[in-house]
Order: sequence, then C-alpha cells, then structure tokens
Amino acid sequence: MSDDLQQRIQNAIKNPQNIGEMENADSVGTVGSPECGDMLRMWVKFKEDANGRKVIDRATFQTFGCETAIAVASVATELIAGKTVEEALSMSGSDLAAPLGALPPMKIHCAQLVEGALRSALVPTPAAAPSVPAQKTGSLIESFAGAPAGKVKVVLKP
Ligand code: FES
Repeated sequence: MSDDLQQRIQNAIKNPQNIGEMENADSVGTVGSPECGDMLRMWVKFKEDANGRKVIDRATFQTFGCETAIAVASVATELIAGKTVEEALSMSGSDLAAPLGALPPMKIHCAQLVEGALRSALVPTPAAAPSVPAQKTGSLIESFAGAPAGKVKVVLKP
C-alpha cells in the first residue's frame, strides 16, 4: 500500500464520520466478507429533497473490519448523502472509496464490504432483511451478544 494511501486511511480513521448505530433508521443492511470474515452494518435514513425525490438523508455504520473498511465506510457515508437509491446503487466499491484513492488489490474487498452493506440496506433481500424494523436491529455487537443462536442473519456477498 502506498504511503499516500496509508496516510489518507489514517486521516480518515482518526476522525471517522457517521460511525455508530442509528436509532431512527429507515433501513439497515449487514454483510460479512467471505475474503476475511469481517462484517459491516449500515443504517440509512431517507428524506425528500427540494425536487420531491426520495434521497439518502444520512447513513451510519458499525464494523468488525480493518482500518481500510472503516475509512471507506466513513467517506462512503459522506458521499451517498443526498443521493437517490438508484444513484447510490450505481456506485461501486471503488466509487465509494474514491476520496481515499485507488485501493491495492488486497484491499478491494474492504470497499466491497461497504458496497455490500449499502446494497443490503437499500435493497433488502428476503435473506438479508432484518426480521425486525431497522430501528430495533441494535448495534452490530448486540447482534452477537444478545441474540440466541440462529437469530442473526448474515449475508455473505461475493
Ligand atoms: Fe476485512 Fe478489510 S481485511 S474488511
């Protein structure tokens, strides 16, 4: 990893944006990486913009992930604010990580973890959809600490 990229990641994780559970989220998505076993949960709140479009008001995240995943999630949650669902869905992991610069091949899956959680939140699939409303999903750690076996649904994204 280049020194420049490492510095941008370090800067992003010194003051991560939008980290933490969102109490009044409209949607939530959780994914695990088959590459490394890390996990990321993203909460999304929508609003109507001045043109009457449904757009992302804000997004927050929690992760059991590496520094790159934290940095990408931090910049991604800033990038997607104000975008429609379609616009956000059109963004790849590389797009979401763009403020950090190009990621090396061994770190691309970290951005894909963020992309997967965002997609899971924006387009819940039956397997990914929480069995309770988004505001009742709780934090990522609570999912493991308090949930009986079989109650946590994790969707591995390729
Ligand atoms: Fe697992 Fe980066 S190594 S998300």
